[in-house]
Amino acid sequence: MTQTDNTAVEMSVLSEVALIKIQNPPVNALSKAVRIGLIEKVKSALSDDSVKAIAISSEQALFSGGADISEFGGDAHESPLPEVLDVIEQATKPVFAVVSGPAFGGGLEVALACHYRISFADNKVGLPEVNLGILPGAGGTQRLPRLAGVAKSLDMIVTGKPTKVSTLPSVFDLIVENPAQLLEESMAFIQTKLVEGGEIRRTCDLTVDAAQAPAELFAQYRQGIAKNARGFYSPERCIQAVEAAVSLPFADGLKKEVELFIECMNSSESAAQRHIFFAERAAGHVSDFDKATPIREIKKVGIVGAGTMGGGIAMNFANAGIPVTMLEVKQEALDKGLALIRRNYENSAKKGKLTAEQVEQRMQLLTGSTDYNDFADVDLVIEAVFEKMSVKQEVFGQLDKVCKDGAILATNTSTLDIDEIAKSTSRPQDVIGMHFFSPANVMKLLEVVKAEHTSPDVIKTVMKLAKTIRKVSVLVGVCFGFVGNRMIETYSRESNRLLLEGATPEQIDRVIYDWGMPMGPFTMGDMAGLDIGYFVRESRREFIKHDPSYCVVGDRLVEKGRVGLKCGRGAYLYEKGQRKPIPDPEVVQIAKEEAERLGIQQREITDQEIIERCIYPLINEGANILQEGIAAKPSDIDVIYVYGYGFPVYRGGPMQYADQVGVKAVYDAMCRYQNDLGEHGKSWFEPSPLLKQLVDDGKQFSDLNKG
Ligand code: NAI
Repeated sequence: MTQTDNTAVEMSVLSEVALIKIQNPPVNALSKAVRIGLIEKVKSALSDDSVKAIAISSEQALFSGGADISEFGGDAHESPLPEVLDVIEQATKPVFAVVSGPAFGGGLEVALACHYRISFADNKVGLPEVNLGILPGAGGTQRLPRLAGVAKSLDMIVTGKPTKVSTLPSVFDLIVENPAQLLEESMAFIQTKLVEGGEIRRTCDLTVDAAQAPAELFAQYRQGIAKNARGFYSPERCIQAVEAAVSLPFADGLKKEVELFIECMNSSESAAQRHIFFAERAAGHVSDFDKATPIREIKKVGIVGAGTMGGGIAMNFANAGIPVTMLEVKQEALDKGLALIRRNYENSAKKGKLTAEQVEQRMQLLTGSTDYNDFADVDLVIEAVFEKMSVKQEVFGQLDKVCKDGAILATNTSTLDIDEIAKSTSRPQDVIGMHFFSPANVMKLLEVVKAEHTSPDVIKTVMKLAKTIRKVSVLVGVCFGFVGNRMIETYSRESNRLLLEGATPEQIDRVIYDWGMPMGPFTMGDMAGLDIGYFVRESRREFIKHDPSYCVVGDRLVEKGRVGLKCGRGAYLYEKGQRKPIPDPEVVQIAKEEAERLGIQQREITDQEIIERCIYPLINEGANILQEGIAAKPSDIDVIYVYGYGFPVYRGGPMQYADQVGVKAVYDAMCRYQNDLGEHGKSWFEPSPLLKQLVDDGKQFSDLNKG
């Protein structure tokens, strides 16, 4: 590329300072053109005798968002960033980073390679590579400890969290208060430095004070992050890279960083994390509508039902500044719902996450009503009443009468047929599912459920709205439980069946926890309440009656009043006010008796079998869901599992995990269990035709993401 072609980096000379600006919207990614442009412009400034100093900055909103994700695995090898940074750092005229906006990843690494850094107090910088299962690979792990010290660097590199410039006084040589004056004050600072002799201060020439970083500091740090970093590959490598910054000379430290970076890149954990990063973005791109599909404006929202879900859903909108009217039949229920929301906000305020003023602002956006006429002007209604078809249909009949034309009518049902619900209105094209997960103000996932007649503009509007309320949305079709709950049913079923075959709740929970889920199925069941699953089974007895062993231990527990944590007894026992599950021999005894009654021979169950029996049917059901077109692509299912069910992100979701263990291994195991588990195997372990097809074609699930 010739110099004149490159508009991604501009240069002008002002009072002997070459001002180099990165201009690569939207996020000023360090694409190939930027990297080449930076080298060219720095070299040109160095050879220009009228230039005494160089300043690197930008007029874009971000100083730089870091690497260009579209280059992953491709162009990133051309004029790689470390080479660019070496040119900057080795410059023979002082180079100043004027960090005019957020600088992340490679963007911060550019600043670290400059000789001086200037920014404003509220600006944020960070090294978020760990979130993709890698580490900063352009010297960030070696330069940051030299400037910020070991403790701060560990924190930034291992957590990947953005950090305020005001907390980094040793990294930034000048921190201005007013961002509008950054350029002016920077120019004055540069002139002062030039007058003082224009010292060139290369970060690579600094050393980290080893006394500042005793071995115990690293040991303590490792201990401190052990729980959050469980199962992830890169946090430990990030720590090792920082250790190298302390123990090795700069050049050797850089080599170590490269080594560790490559190890991370080659790990299955990082592959899974990168997969989810792209899967999340791909989930937002829906092929059902084109650019011309209009979007409806959502300025006011109504919510029917101020219970557990209604309250959480309302908070999402209030947080985004959108006014909400909440409707209940009885004033008492309404008052209770609103009071709970206030308590939630006040708890956030106590933790310092909100100011008292913000709490009031949000509460002011929430209005209660017991009169449907108050929904006359809302643009969207979300129904979150009891999970009963007749109740939902009555609510939708009312909405049909009062809501204005073009209002979107959404249901938060978890299991009911949305086509049936839509029939109780005269406008099925406006009816859609918005399936939030509990707690709705915390969980990031939103399953957007397209019913038979839902119009494309309604889908497009809801998918866009999901971004406004900071949810990760996935478009799915109508079936029992949609994608997430339909699949989780297999997982609950098998974990329950394993009890009959001889495993204990604590063994299953330990294996599943160690495998990476936030908690095992029995701890989870007790927390949610075993009665919830019981009621779902009650509504499906017809469908499951052919299997007398189906969740039978769960049924017995509920019948004995053991509904979980809320009453201190479920699959475990709980001491009053405590959440720690205590194994209960009575549960094992119930399983034993039921096994005898059903003629099931108890045996020792291996940990490997527990993983296969709980996870592989989940994958198999995912394959059926794909085959039926309920989910558009495997990566959508992965997003649902990571954001809605706590599936370990370093395993990338069930479908990505299937690719990692091999679709053939999953298929073979399904066939084996189908064969070995008698009637149970025949009923529930039939391999999905799609899974078989992939095996026959020598393909894997990720091949379906591409097409
Ligand atoms: P809930 O029992 O906590 O709340 C339901 C609320 O609706 C109650 O406050 C009740 O007074 C009110 N209500 C009932 N009939 C009404 C009517 N005709 N008009 C106005 N208000 C009425 O139930 P929850 O857990 O909030 O569930 C609501 C919906 O969300 C259900 O469809 C459920 O399947 C679904 N859901 C629940 C999840 C959960 O984990 N709890 C997760 C995802 C969806």
